[in-house]
Amino acid sequence: MKKVITYGTFDLFHEGHVNLLRRAKALGDWLIVGVTTDNFDMQRGKMNTCDNVMERIEAVKACGYADQIIIEEYRGQKIEDIQKYGVDIFAIGSDWEGYFDYLKDYCEVVYLPRTEGISSSQLREERPAVRLGIIGTGSIASRFVPEAAFVGSNKVVAAYNPDPAERTRFCEKFRIPVSADSPEALFTACDAVYIASPIYTHYEYAKQALEAGKHVLCEIPFVLKESEAAELLDLAERSGLVLMPAHKTASCPAFNHLVSLLRSGPIGEIVEVNASVTTLTDERSEKLDAARAGGSMNENAVFPLLPVFKLLGTQWESIDFFAKMRAGVDIFTKAVIRYPHAVASFQVGLGVKTEGNMVVSGTKGYAYVPAPWWKTNYFELRFEDQNLNKKYFYPYDGEGLRYEIKDFVSCIHNGSHGKLTRQEILRMSRVQELFLAGKNVYEI
Ligand code: CTP
Repeated sequence: MKKVITYGTFDLFHEGHVNLLRRAKALGDWLIVGVTTDNFDMQRGKMNTCDNVMERIEAVKACGYADQIIIEEYRGQKIEDIQKYGVDIFAIGSDWEGYFDYLKDYCEVVYLPRTEGISSSQLREERPAVRLGIIGTGSIASRFVPEAAFVGSNKVVAAYNPDPAERTRFCEKFRIPVSADSPEALFTACDAVYIASPIYTHYEYAKQALEAGKHVLCEIPFVLKESEAAELLDLAERSGLVLMPAHKTASCPAFNHLVSLLRSGPIGEIVEVNASVTTLTDERSEKLDAARAGGSMNENAVFPLLPVFKLLGTQWESIDFFAKMRAGVDIFTKAVIRYPHAVASFQVGLGVKTEGNMVVSGTKGYAYVPAPWWKTNYFELRFEDQNLNKKYFYPYDGEGLRYEIKDFVSCIHNGSHGKLTRQEILRMSRVQELFLAGKNVYEI
């Protein structure tokens, strides 16, 4: 049996892909199609794919030419696949002419004629660009604008800050055309809003934006009350709009790989998750101002809650908080969350510093993610027999905001939800609400 292999992203599956697969199949008896993972595409700078890997696999499957579909995860995999599957012919479109000649040491290499006049890039270009407006022009917004430029043709077209001097300075610096003097003026200029204002303003701005028919990406922590989170999520759903908390770690490719890997059982049953995020902060900062929703739990808890919920779920039995307070806010809190068969704990601090790593302990081994684990680019699985230890490396490009922007834009185009489930969003607010209400809070 003659085996043929080909690879591609197959985004927005089109006629050129069908022709290529038909021609590849005609070269032999068995066609293997390698579809790139989202992570691999991002690693090689393809940040603007519209369909995720599952959707792209489904499209390849549906066209009927593939006898076997595999995923392509890393550079250099092609040689291994050719040997592993006993491939006779490697086929690819003529736009790659000469590029894969190095595979001739392993099998026959055939460049097939490319279909003229169509490509995924062209189809992506034809999709309307998302016009983004920003509310709040502080440091995170300043990092957002350059990162947005990495994701397709979407543009930041407007910015709003109640302080006219601040918003003018910001718009001039980033050449943003509309310096909006009110939220309404901002909504008129854009399709989607990124809320990067202080925590205590999130609820009002998100509500106004949704009521104006705009998609919303809201900085984290999203809102500090579960009822407010539920109301906003309901409003978005009723209006057919995307509402996504801007959780960078939730969109980080390496973090997602870590979660799916651990859930597949290599360290056995997960018994404990521990993670910390501490960021020593100037005492005069708003982040430590009780009147402005400051404090370590408000500021940082949504980061460790992410791995806790992703790995142990949202149905905890109890939570205890041990907090060190100063001037009405917690400068440090350790939380212990009890589950039926596991325990989670985390430390957050603005006035206390500790190691910012994450350890997930299981019955067969543990995962170790060094600081800063929330910008995951490297982790290890460790076992009693150290020979079994495994290290995983990933790129974490730029500020990492591009991953969440990519997720947000693809949710808008595909009508899908982001990486956080509704329940996870609600429960994050719930934990913060319990703490603020003083429930099971023990001062230390
Ligand atoms: N292909 C083709 N004819 C086209 C487009 C793609 O034969 N008009 C082939 C490519 O040469 C490759 C395979 O289809 O062998 C998968 O290509 P992929 O990169 O996924 O598709 P493109 O449309 O080229 O995507 P992009 O525009 O993002 O590069």
